[in-house]
Amino acid sequence: MLSSLVLLSTCLGLANAFYLPGVAPTDYDPDQQVPLFVNTITPGYSDSDVGHSHSREIFSYDYYNEILKFCRPEGGPKSQSESIGSILFGDRIYNSPFELFMLKNETCKTLCKTQNSVVTNSFLLGTISANYQMNWIVDGLPASGVKYQDSQTGEPFYSVGFPLGEVADDNVYLHNHYDINIEYHQSTNGKYRVVGVLVSPKSMAKNAKSCDSEEKFLLKADDKTDVTYTYSVIWTESPNIWATRWDKYLHVFNPSIHWFSLINSATIAVFLVGLVATILLRGVRKDISQYNEIDLNEEVQEDSGWKLIHGDVFRAPSHKLLLSVFLGSGAQLIVMSGITLSFSLLGLLSPSNRGSLTTVVLILYIFLGSIGGYTSATFYKTFGGESFKLLAIVTPLLVPGIIFAVFLLLNFFLIFTHSSGAVPFGTMLATVLIWFLISVPLSCVGSFVAFKKDPFKFPVRTNQIPRQIPQQPKSLNKITSTLLAGILPFGAISVELYYIYNSLWLNKLYYMFGFLFVYYGLMLLTTSAVTVLLTYFLLKNENYHWQWRSFVAAGASSFYIFLYALVYLYRSLQLKSFASYAIYIGYSLLISFIMFILTGSVGFLSSFFFTRRIYSEIKVD
Ligand SMILES: *[C@@H]1O[C@H](CO)[C@@H](O)[C@H](O)[C@H]1NC(C)=O
Repeated sequence: MLSSLVLLSTCLGLANAFYLPGVAPTDYDPDQQVPLFVNTITPGYSDSDVGHSHSREIFSYDYYNEILKFCRPEGGPKSQSESIGSILFGDRIYNSPFELFMLKNETCKTLCKTQNSVVTNSFLLGTISANYQMNWIVDGLPASGVKYQDSQTGEPFYSVGFPLGEVADDNVYLHNHYDINIEYHQSTNGKYRVVGVLVSPKSMAKNAKSCDSEEKFLLKADDKTDVTYTYSVIWTESPNIWATRWDKYLHVFNPSIHWFSLINSATIAVFLVGLVATILLRGVRKDISQYNEIDLNEEVQEDSGWKLIHGDVFRAPSHKLLLSVFLGSGAQLIVMSGITLSFSLLGLLSPSNRGSLTTVVLILYIFLGSIGGYTSATFYKTFGGESFKLLAIVTPLLVPGIIFAVFLLLNFFLIFTHSSGAVPFGTMLATVLIWFLISVPLSCVGSFVAFKKDPFKFPVRTNQIPRQIPQQPKSLNKITSTLLAGILPFGAISVELYYIYNSLWLNKLYYMFGFLFVYYGLMLLTTSAVTVLLTYFLLKNENYHWQWRSFVAAGASSFYIFLYALVYLYRSLQLKSFASYAIYIGYSLLISFIMFILTGSVGFLSSFFFTRRIYSEIKVD
């Protein structure tokens, strides 16, 4: 284990060194314009300490939303080209009227004057109270509002985004002045590069004399007001080089917590797997030698235990088409997440590459359609299914279709709330087209290749007449055993889930892919260990309905993941509107469904190969 930890930290270190492979730094001459782009405004968090973050909304809004009345560039805002993943994940990037020139300090420049209507003011009031954040991008770097200092190491680190306004003594103030501090570094070729962006926003009264004024701009909901937006720019030299400029954004706050919980989970998982292996090895070996001994001595003795059901154990499960389809989709998800995590482990998908993670996930999922089709057809044929055409069509449509339908439904909610999170029609259409033009045909090809091949062979023949299943012990009750089986894989990942949820719902950057990779492995490992154990107990009790049982028991961890989402909702988010509840619950269900298919398939596959293995060891007349 020590060596794997060393390997892991090497990988983490490697990932630190290469944040942006293939993307060259931009060099600027003095006085050359450095564009400032604006992204959506997002609900934020108020504390540097992730443990106490509260957010009351989950919608983000377009910066140039009609209601907000922010200053627009001449000729109207232009959308910046983004990857499909970045759009699906909610980025809406536009240009802005800010004028930044390399090395040129500016003081108190007027951006524009606007008039806020009553609607605008009350909307701003709501968003500021909900702690909404601005998200600006300069030279690919997010603008940070606060420079924190790690209390243990003293290292500085930056938050992402800065607040739209502030609340003090029940008064709400709008930030209408921005002190933009850009850190630059002179590279060896004599040109300048941007290595840090800090924005301190400020609220300034309408008739303040200078930008140093302490008077604030009080927002009132029932009032029309003129607003003047101003900004200052300060360029400061920084010793940090371009290659490491993301480090301060990706600062791991208190890394020892992560290491501690990781080692904790790993120990539990290794212990568990060891335990299962011991039980199985001992038990199965004893059974096998007993069975084979009986056979040799030709003594007429009644068989018991799992040998007894050799004529039924590979009897095709009920609903074999559905199980095959789930297995196909599951295999697709397993391979996809494995490859994605390996990529990210190498630092290829760091948050500095906007949307790259989502894009890669999408592309991989689509191209791995062939694996899905292949797996599903192989198992369908193994189960003795005959509606090959139906299977080939259902496999690429069912699970993605469910995901897409939920996504579409949630999108209506988002459109209804005027949130920018709503995926534009064009992107939606593109996704559907890619799905039907690439993924579906690939999946069908995979299926037909598998149909041409021989299915899995079983070591024992299945009898014509199914055996009666004897009375099962209470401990193998369907619900209890499933719930028990799910809790261990969930336990292995529960700590990391908190950080993943923070990055999903609170717009925090997630970057600890090294940890995530290990957690993913631990989860798969515990899932298969627990499921194999359950299958063994089932077979021992002469219950040969292990196929669906192992799938559902392994997938049960997704049930806990959903429960965890509800706990997280209650503890870390305080949502206000019905629509935000609907969106949150909808996405959580979607995540759990995907996890169910993924872990369920892992469980089934382990049980399948386990069962095949043990029955090939015994002699049956
Ligand atoms: C801009 O102003 C800051 C603060 O006054 C100063 O430290 C910095 O050197 C100035 N930068 C340039 C390029 O003049």
